[in-house]
Amino acid sequence: MSYNFRTLNYLGSKLRLLDFIEDKVLDVTPQGAGICDLFAGSGCVSRKLSRLHSVVSCDIQGYSKVICNALLHKFDVTDKTIEGFFKSLDNECTNKLREAFAPLIELEQDAIDSKNLEVLTCILEHGSLEVFNIEHNLSCLSDQLVVVCKNLKKDGLDDVRSLISRYYGGVYFSYKQAVEIDIILETIHRLISEDNRDLFLAALLSTASDIVDTVGKHFAQPIKARDSKGNIKITVYNKAVKDKTIDVVALYREWLLKYRNLSKSDCQHITMQGDYEQCLKSLPDNVRTVYADPPYTRDHYSRYYHVLETLTLRDTPKISTVTIHGSTHVSNGIYREDRHQSPFCIKSKAPEAFRKMFELTASAGRNLLLSYSPYDETKKTHPRVVTMQQLIALAEEYYDNVETVSAGSFKHNKLNSTEHFLEASDEAELLIVCTNNE
Ligand SMILES: C[S@@+](CC[C@H](N)C(=O)[O-])C[C@H]1O[C@@H](n2cnc3c(N)ncnc32)[C@H](O)[C@@H]1O
Repeated sequence: MSYNFRTLNYLGSKLRLLDFIEDKVLDVTPQGAGICDLFAGSGCVSRKLSRLHSVVSCDIQGYSKVICNALLHKFDVTDKTIEGFFKSLDNECTNKLREAFAPLIELEQDAIDSKNLEVLTCILEHGSLEVFNIEHNLSCLSDQLVVVCKNLKKDGLDDVRSLISRYYGGVYFSYKQAVEIDIILETIHRLISEDNRDLFLAALLSTASDIVDTVGKHFAQPIKARDSKGNIKITVYNKAVKDKTIDVVALYREWLLKYRNLSKSDCQHITMQGDYEQCLKSLPDNVRTVYADPPYTRDHYSRYYHVLETLTLRDTPKISTVTIHGSTHVSNGIYREDRHQSPFCIKSKAPEAFRKMFELTASAGRNLLLSYSPYDETKKTHPRVVTMQQLIALAEEYYDNVETVSAGSFKHNKLNSTEHFLEASDEAELLIVCTNNE
C-alpha cells in the first residue's frame, strides 16, 4: 500500500479518501491519459494517482513541489550515499553552530529536566533570536540571546546556515532540534546533487512537520503558554517533553529511508509551482482530468505551513508585523512577509477564482473533479467561503453533466440506518464530478 503515503500533518489532507478519489478519477479518465492534481498540498493525491497515470501536480507553495518531486520521480540514492551523508553531519563547522547555540540549548534542556514552566514559557514567548534582534525585548533569556548572537557573528555563522535556529529555535522547535535541522539543511545543499536534492529535502520537511511543538502540528501559531488570566498552562511542559525532545537526526533517517524506498510506476510525471490559473494554462495535452482540492475557508495555507516554505526557499525572509492599539509588533507566528494570499480564501474573490477554474478546464476539454468538505459546526473550523449551491450553479454554466458523489455514502450504507446515514452524510466529503458530452 505504499501509494497511500502520509508526508505531512496536513490540514484537510485527503489521505483517508485516496481509494475513493482514485475510483472516481478512473470512472471518467481513459486508460493512459494524464491527470492534474491542481492543489497538491502534501502530495498524497498525486502519489496515489501516479500508480496508474501520468500526473501533473501543481501548488503555489515551494514545499509542495519538493514533496511531489520526491513522491513522483525516481532517484538513485544508495545506502552508501546515505551513510556518507550522516557521517558528514559532524564536522568542525557544524560543531561550531552547536557550540554557538549551547547557552540556549542548555538553558532549555535544564528547564525541561527541572520542569521549569517559567523558563519554558519565556522560551516560547521570547525565544526567537531573529525577533529579539528586531525588537530587543528584555526577558529571562536576554543574556543568553545576546551571547548566542555574538557567537554567531564571531564565527561568521549569522547567515542561512543558522536560518531555522535563529528564526524558529525555541518557539516551534527546541534549540537543539532547530540547530540539527540547520545542519541537515546545510549538508543537503553542500553534498547532495540537484538530481537527488528534493528526496533529501522532502524527508526534512516531513521531519519538521512531525516534531513541531504546536497543538495542531502546523505552524499557524506557537503554543499559547498562558490562559486568559495569565497563568501558565501545564501544556507548555507536557508538549515540550513530547515534542522538543524528539531526536531529529534519528527521525530524519527514518523519513529518508521511507522516501528512498517508495516504489514508483513507469509513468512520466511533472511538478509545477505556481498559481492555479497559470498551471491550468500550461498543462500538457495528454491531461484529461483535473482533480481540484482548493482551500475553502479564510485560513490561508501559507499561514499554517510558512516554516516549511522557509525551509524550502532557504532565504532570510522579512517577518510580517501586526499593529494592535497603535503599536506595531512582529507577528506572533513569525510569518514571512511575502506569504501567499489565496483568492479561494477571500470571500469577495473566491467566486471569480472558481469561475476561472471551471472555464479553463472546460474550454480545454477536460473533466473536473472538485473536492468539497461541508462545514462541520462541531469542529473548530471556519465556515466555507463559498457554498455547495454556488459551486454547482457555476459548474453547470460550463459543464453538461455535474454530479455530486459522497465519499461517506459507501461507509454509511453499511450502517443500514437512515438516521445514521443522514447524520453522517451531512459531514461527508463530496466530489463534484463535471464532464462534458463528446
Ligand atoms: C486543501 S489543500 C490541498 C490538500 C491536498 N489535496 C492534500 O491532500 O494534501 C489546498 C492547497 O491549495 C494551495 N493553494 C491555495 N491557493 C492556491 C492558488 N491560487 N494556486 C495554487 N495553489 C493554491 C495551498 O497551498 C494548499 O496546499
